[in-house]
Amino acid sequence: MDKRTFIKSGLLGFAGIIASSFTARGMVSRILGKNAKRRSEFIQPGLPYAFDALEPYIDRESMELHYAKHHATYTQKFNEAAKGTGIFEKSIREIMGNISNYPLAIRNNGGGYLNHSLFWNMMSPVGGGSPSGILRDAIERDFGSQEAFMNEFNTAAQNLFGSGWTWLIIKDNKLVVTTTQNQDNPLMDVVADKGFPLLCLDVWEHAYYMKNQNRRKDYISGFWNVVNWDYVSQRYTNWQKRNTGIA
Ligand SMILES: [Fe+2]
Repeated sequence: MDKRTFIKSGLLGFAGIIASSFTARGMVSRILGKNAKRRSEFIQPGLPYAFDALEPYIDRESMELHYAKHHATYTQKFNEAAKGTGIFEKSIREIMGNISNYPLAIRNNGGGYLNHSLFWNMMSPVGGGSPSGILRDAIERDFGSQEAFMNEFNTAAQNLFGSGWTWLIIKDNKLVVTTTQNQDNPLMDVVADKGFPLLCLDVWEHAYYMKNQNRRKDYISGFWNVVNWDYVSQRYTNWQKRNTGIA
């Protein structure tokens, strides 16, 4: 490859990553409901960064398998299970909020589809640090400090038995840490802690076993280095606007 071709390829690749980032965020917004009536299938959102972008905290091999195999399979099986059910006409919020009325294949694969779609956006190669502004204030109000919140989240993630997810949600106008089993999520009508998800962490072994083996604790501590607080804060702001009638 000559120098000019190399530069051109690099620019195209970078533009692709930026474009897929916007596509992914727009897609998450769309799958949550805005264009439900125009949908003919559920589309797996693009990964908003390269497979190796979160190294050394999440390795390329795990990320590729997780996105291209696990998430892709949930998406495919969700679409298969959704055929003939009328679900394509409904928003994700409606589906999750009435999940007890659907077959288990919709609950498991629809949950897997949505949870991973959210999860990719919760992380960024330029993530880490801590939140600022109104999200920081809310965390300090409801947990006492960022450190206390992280300790509670870490303990919940570490102690979750088997496969599932750890969440920071808004429940009754308060920030709460909770967990769900399998591919359930806090939007579902079957879970104990229902609420609006701000942050989530996949603690299925498929998310970390290749790199961390049985050391889930290392995976959890690495996660904080890539959390995309800008995205999490944006979710909090969007929720506030909806709940105060501003937007
Ligand atoms: Fe996963």
